Amino acid sequence: MRILVSSDLHYNIPRSRASAEDLAARACRTGGDALVLVGDTAGADMGPFREALRLFEGFGGLKALVPGNHCLWAYGGGDSLHRYRVELPALAAQEGFVLLDHQPQTLGGVGLAGSIGWYDYSFADESLGIPLAFYRAKLSPGAANYLGRRELVAAHAADLNDRHMSMGVRWMDGQYVKLGMSDEEFTALLAETLRGQLETLSASCERIVAFLHHLPFAGLVPRGRPDRFKFAAAFLGAGRLGEVLMQFPKVTNVFCGHSHWRSRVQIDQMDVLAMGSTYIEKHLDVLEL
Ligand SMILES: [Fe+2]
Ligand SMILES: [Fe+2]
Repeated sequence: MRILVSSDLHYNIPRSRASAEDLAARACRTGGDALVLVGDTAGADMGPFREALRLFEGFGGLKALVPGNHCLWAYGGGDSLHRYRVELPALAAQEGFVLLDHQPQTLGGVGLAGSIGWYDYSFADESLGIPLAFYRAKLSPGAANYLGRRELVAAHAADLNDRHMSMGVRWMDGQYVKLGMSDEEFTALLAETLRGQLETLSASCERIVAFLHHLPFAGLVPRGRPDRFKFAAAFLGAGRLGEVLMQFPKVTNVFCGHSHWRSRVQIDQMDVLAMGSTYIEKHLDVLEL
């Protein structure tokens, strides 16, 4: 069995389109039993999401995806949870794709589990010493200061230093993702849904491959990078998702997107790969089972 995997096509972003089209052509030429896109296929506008899926019209196997955080972006009064539960699955179905988050698959004895995954700040870089309130606001202290959140800075002034105030980073999900619950609550919800999938698949499959947009293990998080990237580490994933995966010995492979930084860890029996697709370079990984 051959499973093709890619991620972060970001087809709504002009500089990403050529490499996404090239990736899709390669996938269709290579062929396989299944193709899985591990998130950030496009952004708030659903048009490019549909166009991106249509690039794979020539692929003959099962076509599946998990959304990424960018796929939940909603402008104006949009509802990200509704996008996740209703709009994205419906649009994907029209283009011949299943959302693994809601429809895990079984293929020749192999289970395909999936989740957008999320972040609960468990991967925040503690060496920065930034108070949790800034991660919840998705603004570094410097950004909070110049974006009119001075009350946040004032409330934590005793814990802030010049280094903090020189960091002007905002995580844009703060602007465009409206879940109606906290990131911690959403992560917990996803972890339990993933656990349910893995329980069901474990009963009927010989092995399981899992696909998560966000990172489930801290070992995949890029380290030693400049401060603006260190702040972003908090939004790369959640250890809680990894804890769920570790409870299921039939999970042999895990594929992730999101970090745009290729890294790989072995956790027990699991080979866990962050694919490292970027805006201008897309990876196509081939898993032969
Ligand atoms: Fe991405
Ligand atoms: Fe992402």
